[in-house]
Amino acid sequence: MRVYLETFGCQMNELDSELVRGSLQSLGYQFVDDDAAAQVILYNTCSVRELAEQKALSRVGMVGVRKREGEELILGVLGCMAERDGLDMLRRHPQVDILCGPGELDRLPQLIDNVRRSRAGERAESRGVALAGNKSRRTSTLAAAEDGLESLDLSRAFDPSAREQPWSAYVRITRGCNKFCTYCVVPYTRGAEVHRPPDHIVEECRRLADAGAIEVTLLGQTVNHYRYVHGTALTVGGAEAPQVGPGLKAIRQPVPAGQRATTFAQLLRRIHDEVPAIRRLRFVTSYPHDFGPDVLETMRDCPRICRYLHAPAQSGSDAVLARMNRGYTVAEYEAFVARVFEWLPDATLAGDIIVGFPGETDADFEATCSLVRRLPFKNNFIFKYSPRPGTVAIDRFADDVPDEVKRLRNNQLLAIQGETSARVHTGWVGKCVDVLFDQVRARDRADVAPAGVSLRIGGAPIGSAPVERSWQAVGRTPGDLIVAVDVESEEAARAWLGRIAAVRVTDASSLLLRGLIESAAVS
Ligand code: 5AD
Ligand code: SF4
Repeated sequence: MRVYLETFGCQMNELDSELVRGSLQSLGYQFVDDDAAAQVILYNTCSVRELAEQKALSRVGMVGVRKREGEELILGVLGCMAERDGLDMLRRHPQVDILCGPGELDRLPQLIDNVRRSRAGERAESRGVALAGNKSRRTSTLAAAEDGLESLDLSRAFDPSAREQPWSAYVRITRGCNKFCTYCVVPYTRGAEVHRPPDHIVEECRRLADAGAIEVTLLGQTVNHYRYVHGTALTVGGAEAPQVGPGLKAIRQPVPAGQRATTFAQLLRRIHDEVPAIRRLRFVTSYPHDFGPDVLETMRDCPRICRYLHAPAQSGSDAVLARMNRGYTVAEYEAFVARVFEWLPDATLAGDIIVGFPGETDADFEATCSLVRRLPFKNNFIFKYSPRPGTVAIDRFADDVPDEVKRLRNNQLLAIQGETSARVHTGWVGKCVDVLFDQVRARDRADVAPAGVSLRIGGAPIGSAPVERSWQAVGRTPGDLIVAVDVESEEAARAWLGRIAAVRVTDASSLLLRGLIESAAVS
């Protein structure tokens, strides 16, 4: 059967989609790039903001039209939106055949098979539903040990063709989140924090490296809360199993005497030392609290761990941070950033910010602007607050900042971030940086006569000059700064894909650095 799979949202969803694709391919399903050619259409959805949900819903609506016109399609809604909307989605959108939450994706092949068999008259049920529901917040280690989702991670296809960029891969270390920021739907859709056993993670990194990955990004909602206590969660066969997180109180204490645990810092060091073929080890997302000196020390001592932190501030106002339940003040956030740069002077910092959170005054917003001016953020993803059903904020606070004000604040903050990015980028001019190339970019050349433009005499077109283009290889530094290098041809740009070179930075803008290749692939 031919399957079309589209992914909305975050890196966690991209990884989930890669795993779903691998598991269905191993069962003989064939993936197509064009939904018109598919028999099974799957949308892996995101619920973090309403806009992402609307996009997915409009796709669901289009499939509904095709089904009403008589096409025999199987439509599956996967991921956070399936979990959040639950059976309401089936009631409102009868064209949906399958609902599968992010914690149940290992059951997807069975769900598709059930729908196929019911269509063939072998079974009565015609729709398949796998949602965690309230089971997702069970806190026993048993629930984590039973977690069939681990088998999906473990059954990963290591074939480099499984990824769009074979040299780069995601590896999950933690699922779910225990933080309950008041605006966020993730703790409800992805459930309680569950940590994967370190041996599974290291082995996955090793196999990815064997298959050609040189960059691995470890994924978790709050990666620095990773802590795996050994000897407590075992599978039936005696191997270590995923484990519900020990909770914030325990994370904030040193590992008790007599307990054997792997902390986030130790996990980083294990991967760094045991899989040296990974030239770049990254991680997202960091929680700005509980980021201990052990992690910074490990980053300082291990040259293949990228000195890049995505640590969202979310707001520059203490009052707003408190309403968001972020658990830190602006001063604490700044102290965290100062500590990072003390240990790692060449680090880069990025984050997320929400504007227009309920009750955000002009003064609160000004405090956020001031934070973005003061701290060396290389970039911030800026979002307008979007009230999400099921969260604390939607019940507790009126969405009282008008959309027009949110929009203005968003644009104003983007402009300020542009100035900060330009300043951070300018600091790199003259330095030599390692760049892992991942894009080929064509630019119409302004300096060559009229590229692709019809020549006209007296208004009548008399011919057209061929489009002349210049080519760039574009990549990223370990600190995730974008670097563009001019090359002579498309082939030359392509030849750099997946390779690392030392580049001398010659100039900078708010968006990127430009430079010259100093030496070919460094080893
Ligand atoms: N509205 C706007 N932005 C949100 N985010 C999470 N929930 C919401 C929401 N309800 C943003 C946060 C988070 C990022 C992934 O998405 O900034 O860090
Ligand atoms: Fe959402 Fe906060 Fe958890 Fe991030 S830390 S996933 S923003 S609840």
